[in-house]
Amino acid sequence: MVSNRVPVPKEGTSKAGGLTVALEGALKQSGGLWFGWSGETVENPSDQTKVSQAGNITFAVLDLSQQDYDEYYAGFANRALWPVCHYRLDLVQIERQELDGYFRVNRTFAASLAPLLQPEDVIWVHDYHFIPLAAELRRLGFKNRIGFFLHIPWPPSDVASALPAYQQLLQGFGAYDLVGFHTPQDAENFQRCLVRENIGSEIRTGEHEIDGHKVRIGAFPVGIDTETFVRAAANAERNALVRRTKASLGDRDLIIGVDRLDYSKGLKQRIEAFSCFIKSNPDFRNRVTYIQITPKSRSDVPEYQRMQREIAEQAGWTNGSLGEVDWTPVRYVNRTVGHAALAGLYRMSQIGLVTPLRDGMNLVAKEFVAAQQPDDPGVLILSRFAGAAHELDGAILVNPYDTEACAAAIARALRMPLEERRERWDSMMTRLRTNTVEAWCQHFLSSLSNVSNESMEAHASTNTENGRYPFSEAAPA
Ligand code: F6P
Repeated sequence: MVSNRVPVPKEGTSKAGGLTVALEGALKQSGGLWFGWSGETVENPSDQTKVSQAGNITFAVLDLSQQDYDEYYAGFANRALWPVCHYRLDLVQIERQELDGYFRVNRTFAASLAPLLQPEDVIWVHDYHFIPLAAELRRLGFKNRIGFFLHIPWPPSDVASALPAYQQLLQGFGAYDLVGFHTPQDAENFQRCLVRENIGSEIRTGEHEIDGHKVRIGAFPVGIDTETFVRAAANAERNALVRRTKASLGDRDLIIGVDRLDYSKGLKQRIEAFSCFIKSNPDFRNRVTYIQITPKSRSDVPEYQRMQREIAEQAGWTNGSLGEVDWTPVRYVNRTVGHAALAGLYRMSQIGLVTPLRDGMNLVAKEFVAAQQPDDPGVLILSRFAGAAHELDGAILVNPYDTEACAAAIARALRMPLEERRERWDSMMTRLRTNTVEAWCQHFLSSLSNVSNESMEAHASTNTENGRYPFSEAAPA
């Protein structure tokens, strides 16, 4: 397993959220090696990995230099790839140096991973930080099966083509045997990009040929560890934070939002929608509280710093204009809350407000549903632009840009009869119980192991310096 963030166990730290927890659960089943960034920046990083063991998982991580961090992570990955993939061309920063840094880090990471690999290893690369990694491994002669999964959306070609080195990035996908996305829409967008740029041609449904090599492309919507989350929520009544929060609410209803502080999450629009709801439903004044739990994220990226200020101001301003001496309508908290407490907070909420402007999947939506009490479940209000909207058919789907419609959805959810809430919840739970994170892993890995041997051999003839994988010494112009 290769990912930028690696949850190396450290004493005294609580586990990271969402994705890494999900992947860790999956890797524990089979055991294996997890390779990536240590999370540290140091003056002279070594190219030797730092190795540690936890159960049957071996963690091997590398530090980054400040320059690598600035160019690869805070630069190209989060100022070019992230905004483009989230349809935010207004926020894209194109810097040649950052592009170089991105390809350089992929090259050095591939070189450090190389001595750890065995011929039979199946390699699963995760997310936008490492698109060119397989091409670099092929250049070093590796013929292993390599799969790639993108955890964020892939936009239509008119948007995607705003990426610098767009063609070379697309070509890099040709070094993988399987490329997975969360939704059929993302997979379709990606396939259209290949065809439009004349980089890949469709051989059959879900299979493209890129420079003579067959690449399977498909949708693999990620799930959660549903039963563990259900248990955590049922046990969370004893959690101290959950109990204090419950006491602090009195008999008010609770609306909850939980997101990293990111412009893709639609926080500005969400606070506006809540405010609009209160103004148009004055009977709910002082009867409902909206808790928005939003840990700061990527704070050294200027676009994030700007929005941190803007959202904090907006929350303060909303409370100032709507609140009462004995009522704070929006409790805006820049803190990470542990999984156990979150499960309990979801369970006592009448509404889960998950309204990103664009999101790969959004596991908060799934965790909110799994945490509900079966006999009195809350309602999920979900953006139609989250990957989860393709699966969670019992949610109230909203367009997050439409403030009045979102406000009306809040009012509808708070007034929804118990029978309808149960029906909606039942159908979503059925889905969550089937498509767990474990099933997702098995589905992806069995598709990867089904890649034909003939296709694997195609790597053998094309991995030389003069071969087709383009990223070697410098980033493409
Ligand atoms: O959603 C994409 C993603 O990379 C997740 O995998 C991860 O949980 C999140 O963004 C956090 O990003 P970062 O590692 O930049 O803090």
